Amino acid sequence: MEHTLVIIKPDAVQRGLIGEIVGRFERRGLRIVGMKLMQIDEALARRHYAVHEGKPFYEPLISYITSSPVVVMALEGNDAIEVVRRTMGATNPAEAAPGTIRADFGLEIGRNLVHGSDGPETAAFEEPLFFDKDELVSYERAVDRWIFE
Ligand code: RTP
Ligand code: MG
Repeated sequence: MEHTLVIIKPDAVQRGLIGEIVGRFERRGLRIVGMKLMQIDEALARRHYAVHEGKPFYEPLISYITSSPVVVMALEGNDAIEVVRRTMGATNPAEAAPGTIRADFGLEIGRNLVHGSDGPETAAFEEPLFFDKDELVSYERAVDRWIFE
């Protein structure tokens, strides 16, 4: 089944929204296979967002993501990457659809609460940046047959 990496960003942690955001992914039916609170250091931030190096928002983005602890999650499910992106909403919360995390809790692009891998190659690159193999748990839930057809 497809994996994706989610980061509950510093603004969401500071605002007490960890449970709210984890709950939305849980209720959607995605299976949490890895999760931890951590401080992203500058080197890791630059690697994770290397694709944006040189863009005007790159340095503020590095400051933002390293400014306070985050919660990182590896989620599993059919089409997990796309489902997570749609649950998060558009990059700019002002343009995100109501009912998405970014629209329901955010206003500005530089404080958009949550990250999700944007494609299969990105997910395969990002997951090992944040999780060692022995931090990921493979398991089944009794409820899986009521979520996965
Ligand atoms: P993310 O990588 O954090 O999941 O966000 P995303 O795919 O929706 O957006 P992306 O284009 O990858 O941008 C990464 C993060 O950089 C900040 N950003 N600021 N001021 C700007 O124009 C601008 N554009 C992007 C946002 O925090 C965005 O989540
Ligand atoms: Mg992105």
